[in-house]
Amino acid sequence: MKKIAIFASGNGSNAENIVKYFHQNEKIKVDLVGSNNSEAKVLDRVSRYRVPTIIFNKENLMNGGVLEILEQKKIDFIVLAGFLLKIPKTIINKYVNKIINIHPSLLPLYGGKGMYGNYVHQKVLEERDKKTGITIHFVNEKYDDGAIIFQAKCLLDDNLTIKKIAKKVHDLEIKFYPKIIENILNEQN
Ligand code: GAR
Repeated sequence: MKKIAIFASGNGSNAENIVKYFHQNEKIKVDLVGSNNSEAKVLDRVSRYRVPTIIFNKENLMNGGVLEILEQKKIDFIVLAGFLLKIPKTIINKYVNKIINIHPSLLPLYGGKGMYGNYVHQKVLEERDKKTGITIHFVNEKYDDGAIIFQAKCLLDDNLTIKKIAKKVHDLEIKFYPKIIENILNEQN
């Protein structure tokens, strides 16, 4: 059994979708959901599935407290789903090619610190881009910078709003993120 931890800071629609996807799976299990925000909706969303949750602060993440829990629980793989803190080197070094993130744009476009959620879609709108999409990538010490695993595109027509772009991108996230996680875990030993 491979065990996943998901880190999320807010709404948690991706986290819930991933928990649901693996709910009955015999080889892969979401065994922890962690958040740096005690008010985050994600905590409610996943509690319905009886997934253990933890709340931690930036200090716990940096000083080894979170890593200790991951190791105690024998977590194999970490999935970021709208997680807004940077993952420290200590965790990255223990989980080489075993931490992934999803970003709501076609990286390298519109990534980096402060680029998340609607800030990304706002940029797409301002630039009058004809397409956008999602990127799933390995996590390194920089924001939105690790090797790209998968991208999916959607085409944008005129008369767009941030809300419409967000919906198109979100649909791609819901469709692809769990499947890509499953593929990676099945390929890795
Ligand atoms: C998702 O759109 C994800 O791509 C984005 O946060 C949203 C979380 O939504 N992540 C980033 O922008 C990372 N830089 P959710 O909480 O409903 O899953």
